Amino acid sequence: MVELAFSILAADFAHLADEIALATAGGGSIVHVDVMDGHFVPNITFGPPVVAAIRPVTELPLDCHLMIEDPDQFIPAFAKAGADMVSVHVEVCRHLHRTLQHIADNGMAAGVVLNPATPVEAVCEVLPMVHHVLVMSVNPGFGGQKFLPRSVERIAHLARLRRELGLNFRIEVDGGIAHDTVASVVEAGAEMLVAGSAIFQRGRTEANAQEFLRVARAAGGPKA
Ligand code: DX5
Ligand code: ZN
Repeated sequence: MVELAFSILAADFAHLADEIALATAGGGSIVHVDVMDGHFVPNITFGPPVVAAIRPVTELPLDCHLMIEDPDQFIPAFAKAGADMVSVHVEVCRHLHRTLQHIADNGMAAGVVLNPATPVEAVCEVLPMVHHVLVMSVNPGFGGQKFLPRSVERIAHLARLRRELGLNFRIEVDGGIAHDTVASVVEAGAEMLVAGSAIFQRGRTEANAQEFLRVARAAGGPKA
């Protein structure tokens, strides 16, 4: 089942609760929270206090995408703040297996993230223990960037591995996903669709979300 994970990075931070309500009314079913530390990526956003602030205003799962150097140190704080899913970049985790276990031990669904230049094979060994794999379709750090077309083959590659290994992790995609790119990633096998600027721009959040999901659902999943 395809789902819209709307990224609040593109929302009006002064009215986060209203923005979340509008995206939810349009059919969004996951809140995607982009956490950046100014080290792993050249931008700074928000952390556990903002997660704790939005926890009471939505019943949707909070999906925290950690773009930070030392995720292990902050995992308990995200759990305490009310995060449901936490994903970490394979590029920063020296002990990836331990970090994913740490997330699960804190009661959250663990995900692993691949930058565009990281081979899909880098996560093969942890696929049985993750809830989702997030394929970055832009270089992380900013919203509103152009979709990298090679991401489609990377998603298809993961979907093939999932089938061959008999696993059921979910495939998430993030970056430049909009009405014109969403069908290609759904056809390749992505189901958790992160979108920020496509949803929150132009003051039509609810309609943008509806239209985005209509296009995503019209696309077929991967061919067996
Ligand atoms: C980028 C973030 C994305 C970003 C996507 O580093 O991980 O989640 O918000 O924004 P759009 O949908 O505008 O590409
Ligand atoms: Zn993200």
